[in-house]
Amino acid sequence: MDTVTLSTLNAMKHRKEKIAMLTCYDATFAKITNQAGIDALLVGDTLGMIIQGHDSTLPVTVEQMVYHTKAVKQGNQHAFIISDLPFMSYATPEQTVQSAGALMQAGAHMVKLEGGLWLKESIQACLHNGIPVCAHIGLTPQSVHIFGGFKVQGKTEIQAKELINTAQELEKSGAAMLLIECVPSAVAEEITAVVQIPVIGIGAGDKTDAQILVLHDMLGLNHKPAKFVQNFMQGQSSIENAIKAYIGAVKDGSFPAMQQQYQN
Ligand code: KIV
Repeated sequence: MDTVTLSTLNAMKHRKEKIAMLTCYDATFAKITNQAGIDALLVGDTLGMIIQGHDSTLPVTVEQMVYHTKAVKQGNQHAFIISDLPFMSYATPEQTVQSAGALMQAGAHMVKLEGGLWLKESIQACLHNGIPVCAHIGLTPQSVHIFGGFKVQGKTEIQAKELINTAQELEKSGAAMLLIECVPSAVAEEITAVVQIPVIGIGAGDKTDAQILVLHDMLGLNHKPAKFVQNFMQGQSSIENAIKAYIGAVKDGSFPAMQQQYQN
């Protein structure tokens, strides 16, 4: 399989070819997901919950993200690697460039940050330093205490319009990719249509350019999975086959099905 770059992902969006992504935190799973044919991996700050056992992503540090990014890079062969900027590591444009630079030097091909219009300057600062950025909108888990829990976002007409406007503004400021989490399918569909950059969805319906799930969720290791999760380990004889089944379902559009989607 050819190395996946940002240009590959842009071309896939424009060909309407679905992009399959998973989170990944170590070299072994990086190797298995690559063997299965994954397009892109996210070294997510969900590692705070999945690997470290916290109840949120807030305790994760840049040093820990660097450690896991290096591990994923070691096992990676062809996939595009995105790494999360953790909580409080991008409060100013200067701090953003410093934290993002550390992740890029550890092996990331792009960094992801969570938020809204206030990210514009930081995205531009990264761009000026050669760092591509994915902006994460909708349910942004680092702001869980503002939302009062992990709740679906963009449900009212006003909230939906605000999200669509945010997506367009962040694209204008230089974001090269968007990740939308936990929003009604129709809202994610409209965002995907109005921006030119690839849109990754999680709990955001079946019309986004890419789908992502937390690796441990899709392997059935979470005993209280969210509505948008499917256990792909069911009926499979190996982890690699489960990942292949996930990739196949993303590519043919059968995942997410209606029961894994939120409506307005
Ligand atoms: O950190 C993470 O794993 C994420 C996923 C929820 C997409 O951002």
